[in-house]
Amino acid sequence: MNNNIIIMEHPLIKHKISLLRDKRTGTNEFRQIVEEIAMLEGYEALSDLPLEDVEIDTPIETCITPMISGRKIAIVPILRAGLGMVPGILSLCPTAKVGHIGMYRDETTHEPVPYYCKLPRPIEERTIILLDPMLATGGSAVDAVNQIKKLGGKNIKFMCIIAAPEGLEKLSTAHPDVQIYVGNLDRELNSDAYICPGLGDAGDRIFGTK
Ligand code: PRP
Ligand code: URA
Repeated sequence: MNNNIIIMEHPLIKHKISLLRDKRTGTNEFRQIVEEIAMLEGYEALSDLPLEDVEIDTPIETCITPMISGRKIAIVPILRAGLGMVPGILSLCPTAKVGHIGMYRDETTHEPVPYYCKLPRPIEERTIILLDPMLATGGSAVDAVNQIKKLGGKNIKFMCIIAAPEGLEKLSTAHPDVQIYVGNLDRELNSDAYICPGLGDAGDRIFGTK
């Protein structure tokens, strides 16, 4: 498998994904758990942030101690469902800027239909954390990365909660340079391009729509 694919093994993530799968989990709890999983995955995805030594005066003495260096972070949710993951990542890096990419899947073709894109500048200098809880056919994620690269983005990490093998293959083939963080790799897509067993429609469950 591509070295840039990281499947989460942490029991807390596995447990929380099972709670999301349960159709009895209501909107409020669903939102909360999506946020928590994003934070746990973000902890892993940001583990290569560069550090630099700075001088700090403690109450005891002056010391040289590491802090995250100036690299700028852009969090970019794919609308709508990616929005649910933003607070979890912001809780780790509250000064990050947030861009948005809007798209939805055409119900018949399952192809992404883009409708919005606004990214923080300068995007080429930022570590970009692209968020979408669901990687199904992979069409939306591939198109979102295409848009980011076209605007100059280079250092891109994609984070999802559940992936189908089909989507993971498509994204990693189209963009082998993108690091892909997956909460759980599910079995397959069904004929409507929904992930099985999955959790249903993530956007509808986060926002309480149908
Ligand atoms: C869902 C999901 C992804 C996309 C994944 O969004 O949040 O963006 O489908 O499917 P793909 O990998 O086959 O492209 P949806 O199109 O339902 O839009 P929404 O978030 O606005 O509900
Ligand atoms: N989008 C979702 O929200 N769920 C799926 O299973 C597939 C695409």
